[in-house]
Amino acid sequence: MAQGHPRHVVITGVTRGLGRAMAEKFIELGHVVAGCGRSETHIAQLRERFGRPHLFQALDVTNDEQLQAWAREVIAGHGAPDLLLNNAALANHPAPLWEVPAAEFSQVIDVNLKGVANVIRHFVPAMIERKAGVIVNFSSGWGRSTSPGVAPYCATKFAIEGLTRALAQELPAGMAAIPLNPGVINTDMLKICFGSSAESYSPPREWAKDAVPFLLKLGPKDNGKPLSAP
Ligand SMILES: NC(=O)c1ccc[n+]([C@@H]2O[C@H](COP(=O)([O-])OP(=O)(O)OC[C@H]3O[C@@H](n4cnc5c(N)ncnc54)[C@H](OP(=O)(O)O)[C@@H]3O)[C@@H](O)[C@H]2O)c1
Repeated sequence: MAQGHPRHVVITGVTRGLGRAMAEKFIELGHVVAGCGRSETHIAQLRERFGRPHLFQALDVTNDEQLQAWAREVIAGHGAPDLLLNNAALANHPAPLWEVPAAEFSQVIDVNLKGVANVIRHFVPAMIERKAGVIVNFSSGWGRSTSPGVAPYCATKFAIEGLTRALAQELPAGMAAIPLNPGVINTDMLKICFGSSAESYSPPREWAKDAVPFLLKLGPKDNGKPLSAP
């Protein structure tokens, strides 16, 4: 069961990778999770495994209307989130910037940046009304340093650092917005970026064992601080 009161945790990108591992760990610790992702099959599996009060919804974070409807449902059911985790993101297929097709560049920007803004637009007003809650926007090592082949992804994660720190200055006392570098974890995204050497990194479930307790301890003292997961 949850130590202290059960928290209401909203996570984008729960169908795979870090999002899924976090959802499972928060639920195991007794917290209530609302999560989304595009894969209907994976969302159906999550619904079957974890019934109410948890809420899983198939949606695309780039679709502002879908997100608004889901945020209304989640807030009506459980109130404003205590913890809002903007985790969903895409990496571009590694290539020099001049070889990245326009459509792929746009998609990375749409998901990693506009998707995060959409989530904030529809969840944060209810958090501000309560003057409580923590927003964690997933950044990356590539939000603080660069490598060749991932310029579009780097651009979005550097932007997440700036967006989050500006947001931190806008929030009322009692809240926090934090850009988080999760570390390097063996997920589908890492396989896109690193190929077979992704295998030498920890799986998401191992990562979540320390990351979830760390996330639960974040609070107003951390507002605007670029942090890294343990
Ligand atoms: N893994 C690492 O080593 C690493 C390192 C640094 C930063 N990060 C960051 O950590 C976060 C999680 O990464 P990950 O490695 O777990 O990635 P992943 O394995 O590729 O999972 C990404 C998740 O985001 C969801 N998603 C993607 N586009 C979406 C959209 N348009 N709408 C809704 N959901 C969407 C995916 O689900 P669907 O496909 O079902 O939509 C999936 O659940 C990302 O922000 C990433 O940039 C990861």
